[in-house]
Amino acid sequence: MNKLGLNEIRQKFLDFFASKDHYVRHSYSLIPEKDKSLLLINAGMAPLKPYFMGIETPPNKRMTTCQKCIRTGDIDNVGHTARHGTFFEMLGNFSFGDYFKKESISWGWEFVTEHLNMPVDKLWITIYEEDEEAYDIWKDHIGIAENRIVRLGKADNFWEIGVGPCGPCSEIYFDRGEKYGCNNNECKPGCDCDRYVEFWNHVFTQYNKNEAGEYTPLPSPNIDTGMGLERMACILQEVESIFEVDTISYILNRIASEANVTYTSSNSSQDVSIRVITDHIRSVTFLVCDGILPSNEGRGYVLRRLLRRAARHGKLIGIKGSFLAELSKNVIEASKDAYPELENRKDYIEKIISIEEERFQETLEQGNTILNEYMEELNKSSKKILSGEKAFKLYDTFGFPLELTEEILKENNYTVNIEDFNLYMENQKNMSRSARKSETGDGWEEGINIDFDNLNKTIFTGYQQLTDEAQILLIIEDNCEIDTAKEGQRVKIVLDKTPFYAESGGQIGDKGSLSNDQCEVEVYSCDKSKDIYFHNCIIKKGSLKKDHKVSAEVDKILRNATSRNHTATHILHKVLKNVLGQHVEQAGSLVTDERMRFDFTHFENISKDDLRNIEEKVNAIISESYNVIVEETDLKKAMEKGVTALFGEKYGSKVRIVEIDSFSMELCGGTHVKDSGQIGVFKILSENGVAAGVRRIEAITGQNVYRYLLQTDDLINNINLVLKSNANNVINKLENLNDEYKNCKKELEELKKKDMIDSLDDIISDPTNINGINLIKHKFYNTEIKDLRNITDNIKSKSNKTVIVFASVNDGKVIFLVAVTDDLLDTVHAGKLIKEIAAATGGGGGGKADMAQAGGKDPSKVEEALALSEELLKNITI
Ligand code: ALA
Repeated sequence: MNKLGLNEIRQKFLDFFASKDHYVRHSYSLIPEKDKSLLLINAGMAPLKPYFMGIETPPNKRMTTCQKCIRTGDIDNVGHTARHGTFFEMLGNFSFGDYFKKESISWGWEFVTEHLNMPVDKLWITIYEEDEEAYDIWKDHIGIAENRIVRLGKADNFWEIGVGPCGPCSEIYFDRGEKYGCNNNECKPGCDCDRYVEFWNHVFTQYNKNEAGEYTPLPSPNIDTGMGLERMACILQEVESIFEVDTISYILNRIASEANVTYTSSNSSQDVSIRVITDHIRSVTFLVCDGILPSNEGRGYVLRRLLRRAARHGKLIGIKGSFLAELSKNVIEASKDAYPELENRKDYIEKIISIEEERFQETLEQGNTILNEYMEELNKSSKKILSGEKAFKLYDTFGFPLELTEEILKENNYTVNIEDFNLYMENQKNMSRSARKSETGDGWEEGINIDFDNLNKTIFTGYQQLTDEAQILLIIEDNCEIDTAKEGQRVKIVLDKTPFYAESGGQIGDKGSLSNDQCEVEVYSCDKSKDIYFHNCIIKKGSLKKDHKVSAEVDKILRNATSRNHTATHILHKVLKNVLGQHVEQAGSLVTDERMRFDFTHFENISKDDLRNIEEKVNAIISESYNVIVEETDLKKAMEKGVTALFGEKYGSKVRIVEIDSFSMELCGGTHVKDSGQIGVFKILSENGVAAGVRRIEAITGQNVYRYLLQTDDLINNINLVLKSNANNVINKLENLNDEYKNCKKELEELKKKDMIDSLDDIISDPTNINGINLIKHKFYNTEIKDLRNITDNIKSKSNKTVIVFASVNDGKVIFLVAVTDDLLDTVHAGKLIKEIAAATGGGGGGKADMAQAGGKDPSKVEEALALSEELLKNITI
């Protein structure tokens, strides 16, 4: 056997299939595209489903990939076994209606025996029990001994994962030797012991399984194979577990040295923690690299959960402080040759991980304390199950993942009421779902009552023209089909072809009109589902009938304004990369006729200078009048040209490249201007952060900038009118006004103070004498504590045996101040006195013997509180 490094095995595999005319495709993103059945890519074939199902045409009928995959189903086993990991790479060769079983099996055998030099006597085969064709190929064509071909049932040799393409399969096994076996004479592949490991699954994908569990034959039989790269490396490197594979142990060793412990590959809790961190940091690094950000939902939650679990295990083995961001460098180093995106987004990855890790350190302490309290309560009441409500509170309020709660509880012999937790979770989801729905409007696709399968895709003619003659195929009202629509009705209209751009790729749909001699219809938006375009309309005049012809006319002014904004986003995207760095990736965009919004990955505030620089650079490209050229080609050619494909996007075999001279090149289905000069001018309106590591720029172009200038002009003119100033002296005038204002304020304050001091005489002149103590009490309004202090100082300097009790009601709030002259310090304690006085208004406070201040709550009780001071002093005798 060839003792190959993991990276070498990957390359050998891809080279081998390239030599068999396969198109080598770089791993797809971990984020599934247009596949709601899947949270994360979990097999090599997952991103290729549309090709298997015949919905899209593949770039080549033969493809090969090394696909990054994440499976979290077995997350609890990770660390405890040699085999489980959440992150793995899957090597695969695929045929879309091209070759079938014979070639797949032959090439599989050729690769393992001739290129990896695996000993034939250690290899075993399994087939689906009813698959005679596969049996014959292995036996007669390859020459495998009959006793080495094991027939297994559906559970083992029929491959399906959720819904989608599936079929019978045949697997190649490696015999690790008797010492791993169960010593049963019958032991062979399919046995539960560790002796035979399956390493290459060849699936003969013949069916599609739908949500209802029904199998329908696929248009043509396909091949989907999968070989776990880590497992293969484990076999070839003759190591016991995936954690000892070269590239993975490189990460593991770093963790052990960081914690200053030795990894012994036993099942001690320390080794388990090291393995958990090793696996999870791989997932985390790749997830962040693909643009997923930690959150409490969906993929973001998977990331958060893995990251937080790794962070916690770091603590368990004694690693102090944050370490995961640093550790991600090892993951990048180990895999960057095959995944250059890791190296390109290195800074970004580190930043996102460290932000989340730090955030978690804060919540960890808080959550741990609370969970400890909960466990104490359980202990006291001799209970073993934590309520779902409490677990949910930890999750919802403190960002403590449920799994972490469960894990800590388990370590202490407790469990959690999951059903209850799920109820709380469901409740919260329902609330946010209904909130979302009310934000986005009609929720059209969900309630639709019409079968579109027999409808042809709408032909879109709007790249070339803004008007067209079309036929009405469907009129839909309230999700039901109707034949005629009359004046005032709101309907959705499907045409055979249309110049209207349907909302997609962040660009809003076109507005415009449909008309014929019987009606006038306003199209106020356009969207699409599965390439059927829906024109959302109001009938303005007359009536509209199914099958009739209409002239469709896009509002040219709005369309042009939208196109200006769209081309500007491409320029902005490139300029951001140039100015801020290559880590900048588009994270979302909205392009309308009024403005553009561009979200991108970047982890710091953008300085004013950088923002100005970005704006200037975009305008410089605009004024160069660069040609904008749109070319339709296939994805393979586009990639060869070095086009910027968007993060996490998947494209069909035909793609559109939008090139702005030699400056920018992106894959895009949107509408664009013909020459950058048509954008006119670009103005940034705002820049701010929208999530950890994501910033947003909002900007306008063309006529909208002109309108913006007019508004700004009007504003300045109005200011000048009010100030009786002009453009030359407006700032001067404002500064003068500001100075004047400050002076006036100061003067006013002084006057107020003087006034107060004048009124002091009245306050002092009539003290209440209580057992030889002079009590001066007064209620002020809107007087700050510092002013009250000044007054008391003033009084104290002129008085003997005096207690001063002041209150002031300021904007509904109450403050108290109590002061005592020095000759009374043995008798009256200001701090104690104020405590009782403030309490009368529901407040509290205290202080020293000579001076104390406090806050009160209820302004209506101030008089009562002042009167109380008199009562309190009466009980003191000198
Ligand atoms: N899709 C098959 C698997 O994941 C090859 O095992």
